[in-house]
Amino acid sequence: MLARWRRGRTLSRTGAGLAATFLLSLSVVAGGIAQQKWEAPAEAKKVKNPVKTSPAVIEAAKKIATTQCAPCHGTSGKGDGPAAAALPVKPADWTSKAVQAETDGEIFWKITNGRGPMPPWKHLSENERWGLVHYIRTLVKK
Ligand code: HEC
Repeated sequence: MLARWRRGRTLSRTGAGLAATFLLSLSVVAGGIAQQKWEAPAEAKKVKNPVKTSPAVIEAAKKIATTQCAPCHGTSGKGDGPAAAALPVKPADWTSKAVQAETDGEIFWKITNGRGPMPPWKHLSENERWGLVHYIRTLVKK
């Protein structure tokens, strides 16, 4: 009697253990898909924008953004481009407080290096990338 009870206890314990393991692996998978915080290295954050903004710089950056970035980030940079829905990770909303609160150096570093579906843009010149940072700043009213 006692032996059977014990066996029952052991079995249900194993069951609970399996369920816990299963739930744990589910949340690990979910965590892998959910947006993780993305931070540039401290050194990169400190770098000042060496390009002076001007109407020409903004115009050139807007052209790049409209042709190369808008499919994901949308024409107004809100992260709602036509390709966004198909991505496992949402493109950043450039007009969000989170992005705007970042330093120019941090945004430049992210554009340069990319992450996941966000491609690295090292093939654009440094001036073009700094120009894009200026352009992203123009998307919100101060
Ligand atoms: C194929 C889709 C795609 C294209 C094209 C694309 N991006 Fe992104 N971008 C993303 C995704 C997705 C993220 C979010 C990545 C993450 O959080 O892991 C992102 C994030 C960013 C961020 C980071 C914002 C932050 O502060 O966290 C910046 C800046 C950015 N993109 C700029 C650009 C620029 C500039 C271009 C064009 C030159 C561009 N992206 C083109 C998909 C794209």
